[in-house]
Amino acid sequence: MRRLDSTEIVLSRRQILAASAAAGAVAALPGQASAAKEGASDPSSLAFRQPEHTIADTHRVAAGHQAQVLIRWGDGVAVDAPAFDVFAQSAAAQDRQFGYNNDFVAFMPLPVGSLASEHGLLCVNHEYTNAELMFPGLTLKDKTEKLCREQVDVEIAAHGHSVIEVRKNGQSWQVVAASPFARRLSALTTEFQMSGPAAGHDRLKTKADPSGRTVIGTLNNCAGGVTPWGTVLIAEENFDTYFSGDPKKTPESVNHIRLGIKGKSRYAWSRFHDRFDIEKEPNEPNRFGWVVEFDPYDPTSVPVKRTALGRFKHEAATCVTLADGRVVVYSGDDEMFEYLYRFVSRDPIDRKNRRANVGLLDHGTLSVARFDKDGTMTWLPLVWGQGKLTAANGFASQADVLIDARRAADLVGATPMDRPEDVETNPANGRVYVMLTNNSQRKPEQVNGANPRADNRHGHVLELTPPGAGKGRIGRHDAERFRWEILFLAGQRADGATYHPATDKYGAWLSAPDNCTFDNRGRLWISTDQGSNQRKNAIPDGMYACDVDGPGRSLVKFFYGVPRDAEMCGPAFTPDNRTLFVAVQHPGEDKDSTFDRPSTRWPDFRPDLPPRPAIVAITKDDGGPVGS
Ligand code: FEO
Ligand code: CA
Ligand code: CA
Repeated sequence: MRRLDSTEIVLSRRQILAASAAAGAVAALPGQASAAKEGASDPSSLAFRQPEHTIADTHRVAAGHQAQVLIRWGDGVAVDAPAFDVFAQSAAAQDRQFGYNNDFVAFMPLPVGSLASEHGLLCVNHEYTNAELMFPGLTLKDKTEKLCREQVDVEIAAHGHSVIEVRKNGQSWQVVAASPFARRLSALTTEFQMSGPAAGHDRLKTKADPSGRTVIGTLNNCAGGVTPWGTVLIAEENFDTYFSGDPKKTPESVNHIRLGIKGKSRYAWSRFHDRFDIEKEPNEPNRFGWVVEFDPYDPTSVPVKRTALGRFKHEAATCVTLADGRVVVYSGDDEMFEYLYRFVSRDPIDRKNRRANVGLLDHGTLSVARFDKDGTMTWLPLVWGQGKLTAANGFASQADVLIDARRAADLVGATPMDRPEDVETNPANGRVYVMLTNNSQRKPEQVNGANPRADNRHGHVLELTPPGAGKGRIGRHDAERFRWEILFLAGQRADGATYHPATDKYGAWLSAPDNCTFDNRGRLWISTDQGSNQRKNAIPDGMYACDVDGPGRSLVKFFYGVPRDAEMCGPAFTPDNRTLFVAVQHPGEDKDSTFDRPSTRWPDFRPDLPPRPAIVAITKDDGGPVGS
């Protein structure tokens, strides 16, 4: 087995980009002048010619690019993974194979600490399962009653995360066979440790774990992030959906109801596993809803749930490093009227010894955002003993504040948002971009400056500016107050969208911004997820891109379309931008779509195979940067 030691700190891609931006590299790269390919009035720096902006059975990418399916649900991950047989799938096999519904993707260069772009690890979240598309003979309506124990265990094993080693040969990417790094984290068998202020608390103890420090599994891993020391953060999002039972019959009823546990789960897991029945194991949900950290470069490392970052429906956990070496982690709580959070570490990174940073995320301050009408925003600390976060309101310690982070955020006066999903810092200008997916429940009397639309069906993108941020300057992300503005409201022009006027020429309307990333020139790449609204909106989900600075600011173009009834996740560039990895999640998910009669059979298009979530590697025919 390869040795994985490194005493060097791993610089995050963002730090490196920030450094190059500071050196003036961002503005002067070639290709910028060749924008405006489709009309003289187009000021965008993005020169690609978009594919047809329609919903289709298969995926499609901008002209001059290739989209290669790299790995699909059921393909081997662990060295001993058996071949995929969709008609004889077992939990033991699934526990070694690529999981379902790939979401977040991180490209981690090999060797550790390098900027390699043709060899690395792909770290991929598996958010949830669609049993009606995984097994014959089921429908959305009857699956919860019909699923057997083995099928349920396949579903549980298909959750979690995969690490695969990948290598580029010419223009083609391959999964490296028998890699020592290959690994599955699953919800069926993998042990996770709890750390930070809530670890070991009575509210985290169960019959199986009287210590409150050891949990089997991670659930609903949505987006995530990469730390500056080269570990991966994966965020537990809609963990409530797996639990059944009446919250009122538990001592945690206020907590469970606030997090959405309503009684009947859409999964059948509690029929076979008592821990998913809150009447039998009322504390089990408190062990989910955290940010998990693990080291992909050490296949023996134990993943850890870092409780200092709070418990809610985490979407993403993205890092930015302050000038003094402390780390800021941004995270959205993806539900209508929920909040945007920020964690600032107490201690700086140890740049000499990457292993010394284990535990850095256990100490620091969690805050939640309040947006004011005057274009400023304030970060409100969630610290036990301060303000209303006291015993009088049911908080006996910081552990209670973290376990009940939503309730604490209510009390300090945070601003209810339109589903905050991904949150990322642009290394070229230091500003923070927040994807607000949508909120059809917002009433006219509930609008506020940062969430200005009632019945917001298409979502919007917020741009936050910390003090000192600007071209080539990251700024002070630990400051109490930032400024905010809306980059654009999404949807079609008739819905009140506010993109750059030249967007109309392309008709590249997007709806439901979900995940995002930046290329080396600081341009924003957005992946979208309309869910079942995609058909009604007649807008394809996929990758979209726009400038955020200069005359092409908010001029949106369509780059890649997912197959029918899928959502787009996980955009991750290699450091050289010559590959963009994307995750096609839940192709064929629709109310009438089943294993037997799916709405698409992407990517295999074989009559004996259902659709399969998969990772796609996008490259440019001429070998240049993607989208250039
Ligand atoms: Fe898992 Fe908020 O998307
Ligand atoms: Ca998402
Ligand atoms: Ca999503």
